[in-house]
Amino acid sequence: MSARQLRLAPSILSADFAKIGEEIQAMEAAGADWIHVDVMDNHFVPNLTFGPPVCSAMRPHIKTFMDVHLMISPVDASLEAYAKAGADLITVHAEAGPHLDRTLQAIKNLGKQAGVALNPSTPESAVAYVLDRIDLICVMTVNPGFGGQSFIKSQVEKVRNLRKMIGERDIRIEIDGGVTPETAPLVVAAGADVLVAGSAAFKGGPTFYRSNLAEIRRAGESA
Ligand code: DX5
Ligand code: ZN
Repeated sequence: MSARQLRLAPSILSADFAKIGEEIQAMEAAGADWIHVDVMDNHFVPNLTFGPPVCSAMRPHIKTFMDVHLMISPVDASLEAYAKAGADLITVHAEAGPHLDRTLQAIKNLGKQAGVALNPSTPESAVAYVLDRIDLICVMTVNPGFGGQSFIKSQVEKVRNLRKMIGERDIRIEIDGGVTPETAPLVVAAGADVLVAGSAAFKGGPTFYRSNLAEIRRAGESA
């Protein structure tokens, strides 16, 4: 692997929502670097999860880094609520509104790191003119909305192209969807440095979290 540090961000979408605090603690004890928080609105994506009050409730349990992935549209009016809920980084979809540059400025003005997520059909050029405003690009390797879907292989080339576009800038590339020990090496070799994992991280329950994460990390670092 390159000099970039690989971060694992288990997605809380695959946790037991009735025990969310314990699940976060267990994942962090098992070696999670970040906690990935999937917010869905049943409009931008065909599924509904939770909003700012639940994010606020999670916050005290997260000792690492709260990575909030907003799958909502329109997004601008909600940014402040997620900032107040304690997000460290707020990722919006390039497709979530008409003025991506303005949205990213708003996130920065709230004092948060900013990310842009790209759907599988969205080209890398969608971020070409906002690179100086962002800390992270999230490459969706499934269509957003559900955990447990299969990794879309065409996205590996997008990761490679984005890493070239980024050049010397300090921007992380996050992969979201279908990350497993089998797919992790493909995206890390292409330039990814944050791996979201839902199903593969939570499978088997808390006694397996440590070995699940270790397997993904080992596979990613072998790339
Ligand atoms: C999908 C979400 C992902 C999801 C990943 O819309 O953004 O974060 O939880 O789940 P897996 O790893 O199961 O594909
Ligand atoms: Zn996500």
